[in-house]
Amino acid sequence: PVLPVILAGGSGTRLWPLSRRHVPKPFLALKSGETLFAETLARLPEAAMAPLVVCNEAHRFLVAEQLRQAGRTGLILLEPAARNTAPAIALAALQAVQAGEDPVLLVMPSDHWIADTPAFQASVARAVALAREGWLVTLGVTPERAETGYGYIQRGERLADQAWRVARFTEKPDAATAEAFCRSGDYLWNSGVFVLRAGHYLALLERLAPAILTACTEAHGKARQDLDFLRIDDAAFCASPADSIDYAVMEHTDHAAVVALTAGWSDIGSWPALWQVQDRDDAGNVQCGDVLLRESRGCYVRAEHRLVAVLGAEDLVVVETADAVLVAPREAAGLLKASVEALEAEG
Ligand code: GDD
Ligand code: MG
Repeated sequence: PVLPVILAGGSGTRLWPLSRRHVPKPFLALKSGETLFAETLARLPEAAMAPLVVCNEAHRFLVAEQLRQAGRTGLILLEPAARNTAPAIALAALQAVQAGEDPVLLVMPSDHWIADTPAFQASVARAVALAREGWLVTLGVTPERAETGYGYIQRGERLADQAWRVARFTEKPDAATAEAFCRSGDYLWNSGVFVLRAGHYLALLERLAPAILTACTEAHGKARQDLDFLRIDDAAFCASPADSIDYAVMEHTDHAAVVALTAGWSDIGSWPALWQVQDRDDAGNVQCGDVLLRESRGCYVRAEHRLVAVLGAEDLVVVETADAVLVAPREAAGLLKASVEALEAEG
């Protein structure tokens, strides 16, 4: 059986002012009427077990409500603090092997968009077969640009249809390296979906990041179950180093394989990325909510609380919420992360 592990921990400053600390990106209905988290649940293979969700304790009711609305049950592992993905997946793996079994984990971010669910599930099925043979599998996407925020996977020896050994994994390369990787045609983007045996992951952590495994083992051992919540021990978990599976494991293992994901994928990392994957009108505009748009082209306009009128604009992002409004040229959206972090620092 395949055990889905849903990660819901990131902050997502690049979608300010809609994403906030108390309602981060997975819990926003960005593209359809459904939240990204609900869309993630809808993408699970039919035969999969009830999912494990790993999230910050601050978001426990958001997650519980999403599961309830989807008519699903699942254990929710509550992190007292963010320690990035390597510890989050370790907690799930420890929970998975507790009953003496060693299921294949399907680790999914809960803040991505995938257009074609059957194609996604076909890639997952290929990945599960390889994970059973002892591979640590990631789903890889054909790169579209020299994005520096992703992991890059160099394809090695072919293992099966649409599947290769990972020759080299490079997390978040600099711009020149990303450029060279894209030009070579040898590389795929890491989608952030991982398929691996729980026991295999724990064995890799023991070798590559023992401090993470030690802290997580103690924190999980001392966890308290509270209805559908498993409260991870605060002090023990906070003692874990913060690191991602990409840096801690993927860059250092020679047991990794990649399966192609050709399903329409985006991590919706910014407003322009959302504009990119949405249906646009003939003038290239996206309008959400109560919007009046005239003589404008290439705009993303979102009104949450008031009527928003945009006239004669080109390539503009306008996002109105109850207490904050963003106006920026699409090209300038890259400034948002630093600006929001500065705002937060000022309190
Ligand atoms: N539970 C939990 N706890 N989840 C977390 C934590 C944490 O501390 N930190 C991150 N996550 C979740 C996020 O919510 C997201 O769904 C997923 O794990 C990945 O984390 P990101 O912070 O979004 O990573 P990234 O975007 O910088 O990079 C990853 O994703 C790229 C594709 O979007 C890497 O895997 C890259 O290699 C990859 O290309
Ligand atoms: Mg991300």
